[in-house]
Amino acid sequence: MSSFSRFTPLIQSLPATVPFIGPEAIERSRGLTVKARIGANENGFGPSPKAIAAMEQAARATWQYADPENYDLRVALAAHLGITPHQINVGGGIDELLGLIVRMVVLPGTPVVTSLGGYPTFNFQVAGFGGRLVTVPYKNDQEDLEGLLEAVKRENAPLVYLANPDNPMGSWHSAEEIVAFTKALPETTLLVLDEAYGETAPAGAIPSIESLIDLPNVIRTRTFSKAYGMAGSRVGYVISTPENASSFDKIRNHFGMNRIAVSAALAALDDKAYLEETLSRIKAARERIADIARANQLSPLRSATNFVAIDTGRDGAYSRAIVDGLMEEGVFIRMPGVAPLNRCIRVSVGPEADMMLFEEALPRVLKRLDQGSR
Ligand SMILES: Cc1ncc(COP(=O)(O)O)c(C=O)c1O
Repeated sequence: MSSFSRFTPLIQSLPATVPFIGPEAIERSRGLTVKARIGANENGFGPSPKAIAAMEQAARATWQYADPENYDLRVALAAHLGITPHQINVGGGIDELLGLIVRMVVLPGTPVVTSLGGYPTFNFQVAGFGGRLVTVPYKNDQEDLEGLLEAVKRENAPLVYLANPDNPMGSWHSAEEIVAFTKALPETTLLVLDEAYGETAPAGAIPSIESLIDLPNVIRTRTFSKAYGMAGSRVGYVISTPENASSFDKIRNHFGMNRIAVSAALAALDDKAYLEETLSRIKAARERIADIARANQLSPLRSATNFVAIDTGRDGAYSRAIVDGLMEEGVFIRMPGVAPLNRCIRVSVGPEADMMLFEEALPRVLKRLDQGSR
């Protein structure tokens, strides 16, 4: 069967790639069962019990569409951040918002700057609108701010993406460095500052809201998927000028938010004690992963996120063999997509039961690989 003949040339030209293959798809294709789901940077500590109660409550009202203005959530987020609801818009996770941002800026052939090996879903969105990706290698396992700036200027790019902290390495820049980078950008270049891991970052890594809020060429993206443990709910938001925030209204799916998810986000935001508890669990689990890595003669990288990149000291093929070997043991992890980052594996935090499965399986997998290579 062939596809419809009058799909746009762009759609016809796109490869059939996906940004990530999900653990469910891996289970199906390999006939395996995931026992420790620590690969997708989800948060296995789960959402606040208050968010769960809110979802149970909201389930009965699911016959109603959600408020198309997402007013209550925007008001609550605004109060949380000390800004106005007009400086916020809401979407189905950062991933959806990235698509809308790209759509607002990118025409076929438009140069878009990002880091080589950076967050792939952004690249996927750029490809989907026919943009031309210009990639800048990481430097010392961090996104290279100077290199990104240089590429922006060289290409006269209207869009640049930066995740702080970043995925897949878990690195971060200081707030001062980010603000300086932002101010050095041409006013004609829009920065997507992806702060998916903002809550898990150390003090001093995240620029204050005031420092960037008046800049029309900055859109910050945040999510309930990580620290709040609600990846399956699909709730993300943008912070920008009122004019930029309202631009999303021109193209977003006004009835796209899930009413149950929005109720949960409101309750989660309100439960500050639970967030604090989760953040200390995440920190402890990062340490746990780092200890397991060291016990196996591997080198954990410092992390500002809910995952740890672990340097295997070898190449991408070796990391791939570890990822595949762990999956055989029911331990789902991932790894960066390009060299030299792919000398690392990437392990997400999770409850102690998951950490123990990883701890038990890793030496077995490494031993098998070691025996196989002799
Ligand atoms: C840097 C970064 N941005 C965005 C996302 C996705 O966020 P959301 O679940 O809100 O779409 C992720 C998830 O892994 C991420 O690592």
